[in-house]
Amino acid sequence: MAFNTALGVILLALLSPFIYERAQTLSLFFSNAPHRLVKVNTFASHEVRFADRIRSCEDVLLVESKGIAIAACDPGRERYNTVMGMYLPEPVENGKLYIFDYTTTGASGDEALKQLDFVDFKFESDFHTLGMAYDEATSTLFVANHRHDHPAVEMFLLDLEGNTATHLRSIQHPLIHGPNSIALINDHELYVTNDHFFVRKNHSILHQLETYLGAPGGNVVHVDFSPIIKDPAAPVQASVVARVAFANGIELLNETTAVIASSGKATVHFFSITTPENNDTPSSPVPKFTQISKIRVPFAPDNLAVSKDGALIIAGHPHFPSLGAFTKTRHICNSPEELAKADEGMQETCRTLLAPSWAAKWTEAGGLETLYADVEYPSSATAARDSDRKMGVISGLYAKGILVWKE
Ligand SMILES: *[C@@H]1O[C@H](CO)[C@@H](O)[C@H](O)[C@H]1NC(C)=O
Ligand SMILES: *[C@@H]1O[C@H](CO)[C@@H](O)[C@H](O)[C@H]1NC(C)=O
Repeated sequence: MAFNTALGVILLALLSPFIYERAQTLSLFFSNAPHRLVKVNTFASHEVRFADRIRSCEDVLLVESKGIAIAACDPGRERYNTVMGMYLPEPVENGKLYIFDYTTTGASGDEALKQLDFVDFKFESDFHTLGMAYDEATSTLFVANHRHDHPAVEMFLLDLEGNTATHLRSIQHPLIHGPNSIALINDHELYVTNDHFFVRKNHSILHQLETYLGAPGGNVVHVDFSPIIKDPAAPVQASVVARVAFANGIELLNETTAVIASSGKATVHFFSITTPENNDTPSSPVPKFTQISKIRVPFAPDNLAVSKDGALIIAGHPHFPSLGAFTKTRHICNSPEELAKADEGMQETCRTLLAPSWAAKWTEAGGLETLYADVEYPSSATAARDSDRKMGVISGLYAKGILVWKE
C-alpha cells in the first residue's frame, strides 16, 4: 500500500509538468472559441484584397527591397491536405505562385497581383504548397511541395519582370517526409521542418496522438543541396538537427539564432546554432542546435517572419477545433455546385463557421505584443511585415484573399 502510494506520488510528480503543459495548451480550446475570443486590432487600417482571385495561401514572404510579396496559394488544399488529413478524390486543383506589388495603394486592384507562369515544371498539376524561402541574390524560390509521389522542396528561378517561375530542381530525401517551412542559410544550404514523425496518410491515429500528446516528433532537417546544383540526379545531404512537437514555421533571427514554432505546444523555441569546423568532409558541416529559451503564445503558432527592424512576427491558429471544422467543410463551402447540393445544416455551417486568426510581434525588448486577433479574416497561417513602409500582409490557410494592413 505504502509502496503503491509512493509509486503514485512519483508517477504524479513525473507526469504533472506534462499535465500542466497540456492543460495550458488545451485550455485555448475553451478561451479562444470564436464567440469568446477577445478581439484585438492594432492596425491603423486593414483590408482583405483579391478575395475573388486567390485563396488558401499558406505562406507569403516579402521582398522588401522591391516592395513585393510572393504568395503560394493552393485551392487544392480543400480536398488534399496532408497535414490535417483531407484525401478527397480528384479533381484536386493545383497550387500557384503570385507576386503582389504592395507599394500600389488604393483600389487599382488587378494590376497589383500577378500570377507566375511555370516554365519546365513537370509537377505543375501536382503542386501543393506549404512554406517558402527566397534567395534574393540568385532570384531562387524554394517551395515545400506535398506531391503525391514523395514530398519535395522545389527550386524555381523567378523572373519578376517576366512573371515566370522556371523549375530548376526538386530537392528530395527520405528525411524530408513532411516539409512544412523553410529557412535558407545560403545558396546551397537550408533548414526545413517536418511537422510530424508519423505521416498522417500512413499513420492517421498515431499522427493525431502525436499532435494531442505534444510528442516531439516534428523536427528540423539541415540540407546541403550543393550536389544537385551540379547534377539533378545526385543525392542531397540531410541530417536532423532538432526535435520539436508539431514543428511548423522556422526563421533565422540572426546567424546564430534559429526560431521554430511548435503548433502542438503553443510555444516558440529559440535555438543557438554552432557550426563545427569543416575538416575533411567535402560537404558542409552539420550545425548543432541547442535550445536556449522558449516563449508561450496564446495560439498554435504557424509560420514566422522577421522584419527588417529585427522583430519576429508570429501568426497562427487560436482555436484548433474551429480550424479543423473549417478545413473539413471548405470543399463544400467554396464550391457553388457542392454547396447547392448540400443539406440545410451544411449550408448553415458554411454561412456561420468561423476560424479565428492571431498575429503577434515579439522583440527581446518588448516581449510579445498582439497585432491582430479576430474572426473577420480566417485561419491566419503567416504574417509578414515591412517595417520601413509600416505595413504588412496576413495570409490564411483557408482564407479568400490576403489581409493587407497599415500601421
Ligand atoms: C506511406 O506509405 C506509402 C505506401 O504505403 C509509401 O510509399 C510511402 O513512402 C509512405 N510515406 C512515408 C513518408 O513514409
Ligand atoms: C541573435 O538574436 C538573439 C535573440 O534576439 C540575441 O540574443 C543574440 O544576441 C543575437 N546574436 C547576434 C550575433 O546578433
